[in-house]
Amino acid sequence: MDSWVIRTTTRDVDDESIMRRGNIYQLANGYMGYRGTLDEYGTAQCVGITLAGLYDRVGSAWREPVNAPNGGYTALSVDGVDLTTLDEANAVAHEQSVNMAEAVFERRTRFVVGGHTIVLHTSRFLSADERHLGVVRVSITSDADTTLQVCTGIDGRIWDINGPHLPQLTAETRDGALLVHGCTQENQKRVAVVECVEAPFTDVKIETEAPSALRVVSLPMAAGETVTFTKYFAVVTENDASADDVIGHALAVVEQAHRDGYDACRERHVAAWTQKWMRSDVVIEGDDEAQRALRYSIFQLLMAAPWPGSGLSIPARALSGQVYKGAVFWDTEMFMFPFFLHTHPEAATELLRYRVRTLDGARRKARTEGPGYRGAFYAWESQETGDDACSYFNVGDPTTGRDLRTHFRDKQVHISGDVAIAIWAHFRHTGDDSLLLEGGAEVILECARFYDSYAYFKRDKNRFEILDVIGPDEYHERVNNNAFTSQVARETILIALATVEHLSETHPAALEALLAKLDIAGELQGLAELARNLFVPEPHPETGVIEQFEGYFKLDETSIDALKERRVHPNEYLGAGQGLAVPTQIIKQADVVMMLNLFKDRYDDRVRRANWEFYEPRTEHGSSLSACAYAMVAAEFGNLDYAYRYFLKTAKIDLDGAYKVYAGTVFIGGSHPAANGGAWMTAVFGFGGVRTDGEGLHIRPRLYREWQRLAFSLCYRGDRFAVEITPTLVSITADSDNARFHEVDIAGQVRTCPPGTTVTVPLPEPQPL
Ligand code: BGC
Repeated sequence: MDSWVIRTTTRDVDDESIMRRGNIYQLANGYMGYRGTLDEYGTAQCVGITLAGLYDRVGSAWREPVNAPNGGYTALSVDGVDLTTLDEANAVAHEQSVNMAEAVFERRTRFVVGGHTIVLHTSRFLSADERHLGVVRVSITSDADTTLQVCTGIDGRIWDINGPHLPQLTAETRDGALLVHGCTQENQKRVAVVECVEAPFTDVKIETEAPSALRVVSLPMAAGETVTFTKYFAVVTENDASADDVIGHALAVVEQAHRDGYDACRERHVAAWTQKWMRSDVVIEGDDEAQRALRYSIFQLLMAAPWPGSGLSIPARALSGQVYKGAVFWDTEMFMFPFFLHTHPEAATELLRYRVRTLDGARRKARTEGPGYRGAFYAWESQETGDDACSYFNVGDPTTGRDLRTHFRDKQVHISGDVAIAIWAHFRHTGDDSLLLEGGAEVILECARFYDSYAYFKRDKNRFEILDVIGPDEYHERVNNNAFTSQVARETILIALATVEHLSETHPAALEALLAKLDIAGELQGLAELARNLFVPEPHPETGVIEQFEGYFKLDETSIDALKERRVHPNEYLGAGQGLAVPTQIIKQADVVMMLNLFKDRYDDRVRRANWEFYEPRTEHGSSLSACAYAMVAAEFGNLDYAYRYFLKTAKIDLDGAYKVYAGTVFIGGSHPAANGGAWMTAVFGFGGVRTDGEGLHIRPRLYREWQRLAFSLCYRGDRFAVEITPTLVSITADSDNARFHEVDIAGQVRTCPPGTTVTVPLPEPQPL
C-alpha cells in the first residue's frame, strides 16, 4: 500500500457515492477547493469549486460560500456518443487517485466505443504557489483512426445548495482566453474565471453562450496517437482585487501560467507541498492503514489552511462545498488549531486573526442575543463578518418537514471561551505576544466580560453558576452547570487576568490603552471574584464520574441501539424539543470527556478512566468531533487499545465515508477537518505523549504495540525539532537553525537540547501492552 496515494478503481454511478467521492478526492489550496469529481461532470454530480471567504445569500435561504464556474471542465464524445464514466456501456475501466505528496488528482478512464478504445488521462492541481491558479493536463489516446469531439473550457452551470449566487454570468473571450464572470446577489461582488489552453488544436469553435464559455474541437486522431493539452484557469473575486481589476487579474494569472508552462507551474506547486510536508508529516512504521489515514488527515488540514494575510479561517467542512454554510465553528480552535500551532505556527496565527477581525460581529451578537450580555459572544457559525449564520431553527424534522427550534446559536456559549483559550495557547506556545497586542488581548477580555454578564450569582448557594447552556453534547439543550462550559468560562476569566498581568509587566502603555478603550479596569476585581467562586461540577468522590450537567444522572438509562430503534425516520434528529435522546442519558458527542482532554492537568487517571467508561457507552459519536476526544483520553490513562480504535475512527472518517449525510433534513455531507485535526492530535499528543504547555516540551510516549516507530516534527517557541519514538527510545533533534537551547522532559528525564544536536533517551523497557 502506497501511503502517499489514495486510489479507487470503482466507478461512482449512484448519487451518494458520487457525493462522497467528491469529498474524498477533493483538492484545495486554501483559496479554493475543487471537489474530486471528474472532468466531464456537471451540476448533477456535485462539481464544486468553492471559494474561501466569499459568501452570498439568496432571498431568505442560508448564506453560503460561493462556488465558481468550473474552469477545469473537459468532455469528450465520439460518433455522437458522450464519453463519461457514468455510462457503463462505454467506460470499461476507471482509476482515480490523489497523490498527497504533491496534491495532484489524476484520473484514467478507458472507454470502448464502436469497437475501439479511447483512454482519457487527466491530472489536475490547484497551485500551492499561486492561489488563483488551477491547472489540468489532459491526454487522450485512441487505438484506431477516429475523430473525437472535445469540449473544453469553463462550465458555468454551477451546483449550489442555496443559489444561484452568480445568477447572470457573462461568457466571452478575451485576449484568446475564455472568460466567465458575474456578480454575487447579496453584495454584488464580482467573480471572474479565465481559462486558456496550450493545445495542438486547429479546428476550434468557440461557444460563449452564457453561462458557459467553451471550445468545441473536432480532433482527428490516428491509431495509437496521444493528444495532450493543458488548461490553465484562474479564479479571482472582488475579495482579492478591485471590481475593475477582477477580470484583469484573472487574465494576468492565466497568461503568466501559460508563459511559464506546465512543468514550471507544477514544479513550483510541488516544491511548496514538499515544504509543507517537511514541517508536518508524521511517520508511523508498522501500521500501513494508520499511516495512510493519518497522512490523509494531515493532507486535508494542509489543503484547507488559509493564506497568510487572508484573515480567513477554516470552515467545519473545509472547502469541500457549501455544506454547513461554509461556516467556521469551534471545530477550528479546538480541533484543527493545535496541528497548525505545532507545525505551521504562522497558519495558526492566521486562524486567530480571523477571530480578531470578527470581534465586532461577536460584540454585536452579545448585544442582540440576550438580556444584558456584554463583551464578545462569538458566532456559533461564523462567516466573513462574525455575525451568526446559525439560525434559531437550524435542523428540520424529516417526518413532518417542520423546522425545529435549536439553541446552538443562543446557548452554546462555550464558543467564546474556546476562542480565548486558543489565543492564550498561541501565546504560551510561541512565546510571542504580538497577536495579543494585535487584538488578541482585546478578544480575551471581551470574552471574559461576556461570561461575567452570563453568570448568575446564586445567593442560596453563595456561588456563581453558568446556567441555561448547551455543552458540546447538542442533544441536551438549555441545561444548567454543564461541566465543560463552566470550566471553559472559568478558564477564560483566568486567562483574561493572566493577560492583564502579562501586559502590565511587558507592555504597560498598551495595557492602559486597552483597558481605557474597553472601559474594563473597574471590572477586573469582579472577574477575579467570579473565577474564584464559579461553580464547576467536580468528580464524584467515590465513583470519580463528573455529572455532565445538573440532573443528567436522573435521565433515562437506555442504549443507543434501543434509542435508534425508536426512530420513525433514519435521518431523524435525536435532539431539539421532542428528540428521542432528550429525556435519556444518550449524548451526541464527547462532552465531559472533551473537558478532560482540554484540561488535562486538572484530573488524574482514575477520573479519566471512570468518566471514559461511564460516558462511552452513552455516546452516539453522532458528531465527527467525538472519537478523537475518546482516543486521546484513553491514551492518557493508558488503554491504548481503546485509544487506537478511536484513533482509526477519527483518521478514517472520510476515507471510510462513515459519517452522517443528513442531520434531520439538513444535508451535512462534506469532509471533516476537525476529525482530521483530532487524528493528528491523537498521534502526536496521545501516542506520542507530547505536551507543550508553555513551560517546556514534554514527551511521554505511549506507543501503540504494533507501531515500530513514530516520527514527527514539532515547532515550539519558533524553533523546530524532529522527534522519533520507538518502543525502546525517544530521540529529539533540534534544528541547527534553532535560536535557543531547550530543556526537554523525555519520559521524566530532563535534558538540554542545543541547536543542531540530538538527544536520545532510552525507554526502560518496551511499552506495556
Ligand atoms: C457538532 C458540533 C460541530 C458541528 C460542525 C455538529 O454536528 O455537534 O460540535 O461544531 O457539527 O462540525
